[in-house]
Amino acid sequence: MNTIKAFKNAIVCLVLLPRFLMAAVMFWLLDFLCIRKRVFFRMKEQEGDAIDPPLCISDSNRLLSLESLKAVWHGHKLDFLKAAHLGQGAPNTEVVQLEDQRRGRILDYAKEQRPLILNFGSFVEQNADIADSVVVYIEEAHPSDGWMSTDAPYHIPEHRCLEDRLSAAQLMRLEAPGCRVVVDSMENSSNAAYGAYFDRLYIVQEGKIVYQGGRGPEGYRITELRDWLDQYRKNPFLSL
Ligand SMILES: *[C@@H]1O[C@H](CO)[C@@H](O)[C@H](O)[C@H]1NC(C)=O
Repeated sequence: MNTIKAFKNAIVCLVLLPRFLMAAVMFWLLDFLCIRKRVFFRMKEQEGDAIDPPLCISDSNRLLSLESLKAVWHGHKLDFLKAAHLGQGAPNTEVVQLEDQRRGRILDYAKEQRPLILNFGSFVEQNADIADSVVVYIEEAHPSDGWMSTDAPYHIPEHRCLEDRLSAAQLMRLEAPGCRVVVDSMENSSNAAYGAYFDRLYIVQEGKIVYQGGRGPEGYRITELRDWLDQYRKNPFLSL
């Protein structure tokens, strides 16, 4: 059993190593301010469409550090090992409701045939006419005692217990009142099942994953989500 586990770990490491090294080199390059400015300027020019939250990093925020590399490795690993795949059943993981701290399951929020947007991020997109949505707050992307970001709006240390996580989610909710918010369990089962770290978008319908966004922050695209919903508005039967 242990050999199988070690073997699996070795495979994961081998697969992830090239991506990880690429990210490390990117961080290293972006720590040269002249390069950083040029890259972000280019990205801004290409974007044009301002709906997607822009990737912006201020000058004072150093990217390459032990903590940042650990976070990147963690994100790649979760993404690689996630259970959620497009067209397959949506993992029904445990979550805790923010308002009343009731434990439930993520698919409890789905209503019959209506699409359910699982938003593992903070951007609020209301499409109440055709879909329900729930914000799932997972572990902090930039905890003040981990990969600290000078751009983060709050100083939130890594959650040690569920109460920590709930009060951090409470803070976040101030920015998005009226939005249904749940938090991941302390086993981080939703984060693991959906490969949600740093942030990510999904749409689930009738228990199946019908839209799977890319790994955030680069892959966190509200425009893609909107395109899916627009298609669905035009032809609700094509999605399944
Ligand atoms: C879940 O994530 C938190 C960070 O928010 C971490 O402290 C905790 O150890 C994780 N739990 C497990 C079981 O890995």
